[in-house]
Amino acid sequence: MQIGLDALALDTSRYVLNLRDLARARGVDPNKYCKGLGQELMSIPPPDEDVVTLGANAAWHALEALDWPAIELLIFATESAVDQSKAAAVYAHGLLDLPPDCLCLEVKQACSSGAGGLLLALDYVRAKPTAKALVIAADIARYGLRTPGEPTQGAGAAALVVSAQPRLVALDSRAGFHSECVMDFWRPNYRDEALVDGKYSLKVYLKAVQSAWQRYAARTGRGFEDHARFCYHLPFTRMAEKAHQQLLRETGHEGLSAAEVQRQIGGGLHYNPVIGNSYTASLFVALASLLEHEQAVSGERVGLFSYGSGCMAAFFSGVVQPGYQRYVQAQRHAALLESRQELTVSAYEAFYAAHLPVDGRTYHCPRHETGLFRLAGIEQHQRHYD
Ligand code: HMG
Repeated sequence: MQIGLDALALDTSRYVLNLRDLARARGVDPNKYCKGLGQELMSIPPPDEDVVTLGANAAWHALEALDWPAIELLIFATESAVDQSKAAAVYAHGLLDLPPDCLCLEVKQACSSGAGGLLLALDYVRAKPTAKALVIAADIARYGLRTPGEPTQGAGAAALVVSAQPRLVALDSRAGFHSECVMDFWRPNYRDEALVDGKYSLKVYLKAVQSAWQRYAARTGRGFEDHARFCYHLPFTRMAEKAHQQLLRETGHEGLSAAEVQRQIGGGLHYNPVIGNSYTASLFVALASLLEHEQAVSGERVGLFSYGSGCMAAFFSGVVQPGYQRYVQAQRHAALLESRQELTVSAYEAFYAAHLPVDGRTYHCPRHETGLFRLAGIEQHQRHYD
């Protein structure tokens, strides 16, 4: 029995900051951000956008493509939660008007909970092959202004429908994991911005590539050559090169040509340079990029690596299905990315500084461009969505 992705839809904010403008404002050579990190633009959410609106918007388009299947399991993966108790999954369930007979949960482990949620959903559907599961991964990456992490912000959501008739990618839930309690990146409950030991986080990411791969290879019996393409979690786009070089060293393939490396990882790198880090959604943004930019990958096995600081990482894989081209949302995604408005650095800083009141008083969010849903405001400590 094959289980996997039946639909994959993305969303991001309607506003972007050009990293050349940010570099000039911060007195940095723009090449550091554009060439050194591989980033051109980063999505910046307006104050009436949050992970619920981004995630529900992506999910709307994923479900619409399948004519609204009955969803039995909804997993919402995020590290930008809007409530300490109520799951973003339940908010999204309401906005999407899904039937009440649905198990709704929010899951967290930094950027890796999107992959973790997907792996759980695969096994749920394997146990109940008539069921369909919806996994939403949505995040807003925030670091302090004028910190090294600032150019690696971003925002985005991916919605994945998992079924026993996967039209896009049949996935194997046998993953290799690497979990280790480290302090490379974290966000205490009282902070809106992450704290990070940047250089250390790169080292732990690369160690996790090696370790998760070893366990995946032992568990599945697969070798490097069994995989034609690779998608990685992308905190910034050049991370893919570093991660892939680590895998090449680990598997004894250091000698591969630049063209071959590009063929293996290049397909997944079209969206991240213009969206930025979308944390839990990042790996699936890369997978959508691969499926939407490579016309002939059907039958190929794609290696998927997710890294979540703190840390937990997973390496798993799937096989692209024949005819997948008919079901990708390339045109909608291209239109979304092209229609975004560029912010000045001061407009970006104003969005960044906007905060909802924390005393429960009634507050109406100023109206900006969003997708189908927006955060209307707060009343008596309750969030209201349009
Ligand atoms: P930094 O210290 O400002 O940058 O921070 P740098 O000095 O290392 O420079 C970056 C690259 O630009 C280097 O390239 C430079 O050589 C190059 P490399 O040597 O690595 O190939 N460079 C230039 N290139 C061209 N022209 C120039 C120029 N100047 C420099 N003029 C850092 C970089 C990524 C550490 C920082 O942005 C940061 O802390 N970001 C946040 C943390 C992060 O993204 N970590 C990644 C791994 S952890 C992860 O992925 C998990 C995460 O997504 C969170 C989660 O799980 O929830 C973050």
